[in-house]
Amino acid sequence: MKMDGAAKNVNQNPQDRLAEYFARDMAAVNGIIRSRMSSEHAPRIPEVTAHLIEAGGKRIRPMLVLAAAHLCGYPQEDADEGARQDHLKLAATVEFIHTATLLHDDVVDESRQRRGRPTANLLWDNKSSVLVGDYLLARAFQLMVEPGNLRVLDILANASATIAEGEVLQLTAAQDLATTEETYLKVVRGKTAALFSAATESGAVIAGADEDRVRALFTYGDALGIAFQIADDLLDYGGASAVIGKNVGDDFRERKLTLPLIKAIAKADAEERAFWARVIEKGDQAPGDLEQALAIMARHGALEAARADALGWAGAAKAALADLPDHPLRATLADLADYVVARIA
Ligand code: IPE
Ligand code: IPE
Ligand code: MG
Ligand code: MG
Repeated sequence: MKMDGAAKNVNQNPQDRLAEYFARDMAAVNGIIRSRMSSEHAPRIPEVTAHLIEAGGKRIRPMLVLAAAHLCGYPQEDADEGARQDHLKLAATVEFIHTATLLHDDVVDESRQRRGRPTANLLWDNKSSVLVGDYLLARAFQLMVEPGNLRVLDILANASATIAEGEVLQLTAAQDLATTEETYLKVVRGKTAALFSAATESGAVIAGADEDRVRALFTYGDALGIAFQIADDLLDYGGASAVIGKNVGDDFRERKLTLPLIKAIAKADAEERAFWARVIEKGDQAPGDLEQALAIMARHGALEAARADALGWAGAAKAALADLPDHPLRATLADLADYVVARIA
């Protein structure tokens, strides 16, 4: 029986375990995505969308919807074919929202690589990325209405607004050396954790879970999302682009105040402050500056401290699972929290 799947393959990473456990459901989710990304009138839409969707992506967020729903007792095998597709529609919805934000994000960040491929803004143009992103977000809204659950609609609509809010807050905090860790946390909670927590919360709600479980799964998604983004920000200062499928050093070039940088600036002496003022505030960057930034960060243990924070959030995510029912998926979700920060171990 499928239930053993998540527990048995202890050698697989938890992401692959989820993918295997939900293979059938995810095939259906991908089918919904494919059928809804089409457009009768504007061929540019499926072209751009297929470029990004077919490149893969980890599909963490839709799997979180499914995992939360099943953990709360939502039936995995539909006896009545087609009758209970709500969780699949919600899973597809969050991936649509995610894909739309990626299209917009790569324009805003002027990124050139995504999922190991050239970005859509590079292959087509910014206009196409912005407009197709809008289209996908609108498609997400069409899809999230279909289950007819007002609470789920509320969660996902709020998440969409919060993501945009986080991105705008980040935009206005960029280049500002006075950015605090508190502001960073607000940005990360908005742009990334909001969709993780909406995924787990809406999964619990669609399964009819009681309030304690809904809250626990929300808290898990929130903490997991924060850990995930801190790890992503650390990788921007160290991961090989072949591993992360994105260019390294983008945040530094974009003069984004991510956690390692905020921590290093907090400990800067006068000479280092002058360096940060030149490269981040003024944006006057020369070859070798990224290396120097890394050396200063290492001097103050900034990368290590950010890593410790990420581990703390992963711990908080696991703690949130404590009162959920004993289920193989609970262990997999706990392992997933460790796994997202293992990338920066
Ligand atoms: C990328 O998310 C955006 C961030 C929040 C860092 P993912 O790392 O989940 O991207 P894909 O979907 O697997 O490409
Ligand atoms: C990702 O932000 C969050 C959203 C897409 C809303 P980043 O800009 O930090 O993520 P990457 O590094 O481009 O994936
Ligand atoms: Mg980006
Ligand atoms: Mg960004």
